[in-house]
Amino acid sequence: MTLTITYLGHSGFLIDSGRHAIAVDPFLSGNPVAKHKPDDIRCTAIALTHGHSDHLGDTIPIARRNQATVYSVWEIYEYLTEKGLTKLEPGNPGGKIKTDFGFIAFVQAFHSSSYEGRYMGNPCGLIIHIAGHTIYHCGDTGLFSDMKLIAEIYKPDVAMIPCGDRFTMGPELASMAAEFIRPRVAIPIHFNTFPPITVDIAQFRPRGVEVKVMKPGESLALD
Ligand code: NI
Ligand code: MN
Repeated sequence: MTLTITYLGHSGFLIDSGRHAIAVDPFLSGNPVAKHKPDDIRCTAIALTHGHSDHLGDTIPIARRNQATVYSVWEIYEYLTEKGLTKLEPGNPGGKIKTDFGFIAFVQAFHSSSYEGRYMGNPCGLIIHIAGHTIYHCGDTGLFSDMKLIAEIYKPDVAMIPCGDRFTMGPELASMAAEFIRPRVAIPIHFNTFPPITVDIAQFRPRGVEVKVMKPGESLALD
């Protein structure tokens, strides 16, 4: 089955199987590199790595307009419940939620998670299984060797890896992350959106892993 992955800029993607479309970390308003507006997003689900504003982004209006189910950790679920959303699926690291498209699992990430001063639970990476593909979106994280274990468990064919330095790994450590995960294709994320995370992405060059640097708005089709 063909899966279309559209890069929304920063850490955001739209993962579309034709029947199901999952928006991950849909940060569009206030995103200087985004080519999409929140109203452009047609999705059946939204999956969030953590609660920082550059990831939670436009989740609430997009979820409302699309009647989309939001997958997140418990504390974000509580926050979205207070905001009046009802199609919500909470989880936490180590756990997996079976879905109508496959599954979403939450894995660890070394980072923080808050929104407007409120604690938003554990930051996560996401494993998304859809249309015969398994995607590991690392969220915002530092390097950790259990990325190897996560890869051994889920065998992702695509990995989305933060590369912008300062708040996450930079390109050199992200290259090590890609070598730990060994996906068919590694997509760098969370770089060059804002001046503090400007890097030379040519330095992201993991050995033995194909790198696909996507431009915001660009799509990739996987068979
Ligand atoms: Ni963050
Ligand atoms: Mn971030």
